[in-house]
Amino acid sequence: MKIFLDTAEVEEIRTVARWGVLDGVTTNPTLFGKAGGGSYESILSEICTITKGPVSAEVVAEDLDGMLAQGRSFAKLAPNIVVKIPMSETGLEAISRLKAEGISTNCTLVFSTNQGLLAAKAGAVLISPFVGRLDDINQDGMIVVRELVEIFAVHDIKSEVLAASIRHPLHATLAALAGCHIATVPFKVLQQMVHHPLTESGIKQFRADWDKAQPKGNGHRSAV
Ligand code: G3P
Repeated sequence: MKIFLDTAEVEEIRTVARWGVLDGVTTNPTLFGKAGGGSYESILSEICTITKGPVSAEVVAEDLDGMLAQGRSFAKLAPNIVVKIPMSETGLEAISRLKAEGISTNCTLVFSTNQGLLAAKAGAVLISPFVGRLDDINQDGMIVVRELVEIFAVHDIKSEVLAASIRHPLHATLAALAGCHIATVPFKVLQQMVHHPLTESGIKQFRADWDKAQPKGNGHRSAV
């Protein structure tokens, strides 16, 4: 399963890129608002210099012409920009129009399997079901992920399922077990995925045992 970072914070993206686990980035108006520091376009351009993977940029226009205009200008920023279009009737039309122009789209704010299926049929390359927000209203968000993965496999649909609104490490595990193609994860959750208390205590114990094993008086014997 590919791992995207769900943030517009450039430093978080640089950090995860250094870990060697970054496959792409997703942003949205809320994450941009949190990041601050420059225009949306300048932040997107900088992000596209850090990762060669898909970088999703979300339109805020709700009319067709507005969506197309914003989508076209985002697409000019870098070859790995994917235009994020919220699910709606106008959104489906914008997705199919941008596809006809060779511009890749990510259909976002997907909350049902049928929404995801229609977005794929309209030509979106990425389909983003919001797992956490469904869980918030007592629905099992992972069901939509599982059903879309199965339907795309059965019908040989090339679009990829991108599990979004990931709230905790277990969401990432369940998405991977469901055969999901991508999970977009907030930086904090990715850090939680790295850490385990037994790993930390094991590192400390190995260090202590190593230091204890050093002959008294001749300082630190290198490990290599
Ligand atoms: O990728 C969408 C994500 O940013 C929304 O997350 O936690 O606001 O549901 P959340």
